[in-house]
Amino acid sequence: MPNPTSYDPGMTWLITGGAGYIGGHVVHAMREAGRQVVVLDDLSTGDAARLPEGTPLVRGSVLDRALLDRTFRDHQVTGVLHVAAKKQVGESVEQPFHYYRENLQGLQTVLEAAAGAGVRRFLFSSSAAVYGMPDTELVTESTPCDPMSPYGETKLAGEWLVRAAGRAHGISTVALRYFNVAGAATPELSDTGVFNLVPMVFERLTAGEAPRIFGADYPTPDGTCIRDYIHVSDIASAHVAAVERLTADPEGETSLVLNIGRGEGVSVQEMLDVIGRVTGYDATGEVTPRRPGDPARVVASADLIRKELGWTARHGVTEMIASAWEGWCLRHPGARR
Ligand SMILES: NC(=O)c1ccc[n+]([C@@H]2O[C@H](COP(=O)([O-])OP(=O)(O)OC[C@H]3O[C@@H](n4cnc5c(N)ncnc54)[C@H](O)[C@@H]3O)[C@@H](O)[C@H]2O)c1
Repeated sequence: MPNPTSYDPGMTWLITGGAGYIGGHVVHAMREAGRQVVVLDDLSTGDAARLPEGTPLVRGSVLDRALLDRTFRDHQVTGVLHVAAKKQVGESVEQPFHYYRENLQGLQTVLEAAAGAGVRRFLFSSSAAVYGMPDTELVTESTPCDPMSPYGETKLAGEWLVRAAGRAHGISTVALRYFNVAGAATPELSDTGVFNLVPMVFERLTAGEAPRIFGADYPTPDGTCIRDYIHVSDIASAHVAAVERLTADPEGETSLVLNIGRGEGVSVQEMLDVIGRVTGYDATGEVTPRRPGDPARVVASADLIRKELGWTARHGVTEMIASAWEGWCLRHPGARR
């Protein structure tokens, strides 16, 4: 239920990228919290079927200023969750112009339209990719940022732009740095891409191939890389908490950058063990050489988001993998053993 002290039924939130994997979960969570939303998505990687019935969808690009102006006006938008972006690290190395245009110019266009429409609340989807190869046990928001790809650069520069626009135009802002997102609230909302560890392993297993482990000689207890995996439903609930915070600040004074992680490291080998148990496949990994640019350990400190938003993650790794597997089986009917 929405917090009665901050809930304003007159507000409509524009969710860009709301037909995507994370955006779709955010739309559902916002609707369940009683928030009014409109989605703007060009469906380049999204799917309109992810949207709950009755959700208004404006089909088009965040680079289309006239469309944004119309959407702000027609739907009386008073807050923005800017989730839309291109997110493939490797592709961003090959196509930096495309990534800077879509992610940074796209963000600037949305911010300009928001400022022009008098919007005072703005949330930006950032990423742990801003940190690059952090050499620390727990990554805090003040750990130095040194992105390793054009994708990560667009997220870091995006945070700067959001902060500067917030200061100049009296807009309250929150940037959320997602760590390794996995799982699904329902099979229909699951990730359709195969760019993250869990779907990559499912793809290998169901093709009869051993999952690859990129390096087993890292300075970690089992030699494989350690990451902070977070359930997408927890990501969505963090957005609802951020929206409450933004709604409660009519003065435009909030300017937050927050990690969203569980604060708990899980190794690739541990993930494979759980995947084997959940799917019934033999998930014994095949060790291949390290990939360049893969840090040994990236684990979030989740202290600041707990302090600022009163939010903590609720779901564990087994739930992430079991729910992702349900989604995979829905789209690959022959997969289940
Ligand atoms: N999935 C992850 O592990 C992860 C981790 C860190 C950060 N992020 C960030 O989270 C956000 C959402 O990622 P996702 O995993 O849901 O990806 P996704 O590809 O499933 O969703 C992106 C959505 O944005 C839409 N979109 C892309 N370009 C657009 C444009 N120019 N105009 C309008 N809509 C556009 C797509 O159609 C899609 O619906 C992105 O900003 C991404 O960088 C994701």
